[in-house]
Amino acid sequence: MKVGRNDPCPCGSGLKYKKCCLGKEKKNYEDMEAVYLKKYGIRLKHRKDIEAIKRAGVIAIETLDLVESKIEIGMSTDEINRLVHEFTVSKGAVPAPLNYRGFPKSVCVSVNEVICHGIPGDRVIRDGDIVNVDVTPILDGYYADASKTFIVGNASEEARKIVAVAKESLKRGMAQAKPGNRIGDIGWAIQSYAESEGCSVVREFVGHGVGFKFHEPPQIPHYGRKGEGITLIPGMVFTIEPMINLGKRHLKILDDNWTAVTADGSLSAQFEQTILVTEDGYESLTPYEL
Ligand code: MF3
Ligand code: CO
Ligand code: CO
Repeated sequence: MKVGRNDPCPCGSGLKYKKCCLGKEKKNYEDMEAVYLKKYGIRLKHRKDIEAIKRAGVIAIETLDLVESKIEIGMSTDEINRLVHEFTVSKGAVPAPLNYRGFPKSVCVSVNEVICHGIPGDRVIRDGDIVNVDVTPILDGYYADASKTFIVGNASEEARKIVAVAKESLKRGMAQAKPGNRIGDIGWAIQSYAESEGCSVVREFVGHGVGFKFHEPPQIPHYGRKGEGITLIPGMVFTIEPMINLGKRHLKILDDNWTAVTADGSLSAQFEQTILVTEDGYESLTPYEL
């Protein structure tokens, strides 16, 4: 663990690290696991869990690759839903979105000004659209959550910019994921970068623990302050999924009670991966190039 001797002990005792857990990591790991569960409701993942989430992650990535190969002008978002649903089921997995809190489809498809939770339907993809596809297969009871925003056809410079900024935001957030860092470091890295590009960060939706369930503690805001929040420790598995708007950060929810759109109608983009905090950094369980 990269915790300074005089830093507060990550176990939450309030003592300095050197007066508390320093040098007792082995025995202490089990204590930490109990502390993180009791204090934060966080269930650390063990090797067998991680391997299982990774297997679900392979399906998530293969699904996104399949959509990328098929997406085209004139296609409806419902056709993407069918593609995702059939592929997921063919792999022996279950699409987590279907019937999740009443969500009616197997994937979220969010076009242009739609921030997230777009319900697949009759909307047809047009030349220059940016389309986020967010998939969460459940395999053997384990969840992996990932998304990408695809650029279809000839996109405007603005569209290409917001997609690039959202992608770089995820990359910078992930780079903060290492033991001893805080959850706030992730949000700080994303917010400071995205705002320096003149873009804004959505606050109403956040990253989340994942693996045993679709959404577990902790929450991972994509905004925040360096050094604040829970200390990251090995075995934590969570998503980072910044939603970045070209205009202002505010949103509204449509009458379907799901679709989140930018209040000002500006473009929004998002990338998401499920990551594991390791001894010396992180490993993506839904890896793709950023
Ligand atoms: N996949 C989304 C996330 O990243 C959650 C979608 S919930 C649904 O957390 F019901 F809309 F599918
Ligand atoms: Co997620
Ligand atoms: Co997702």
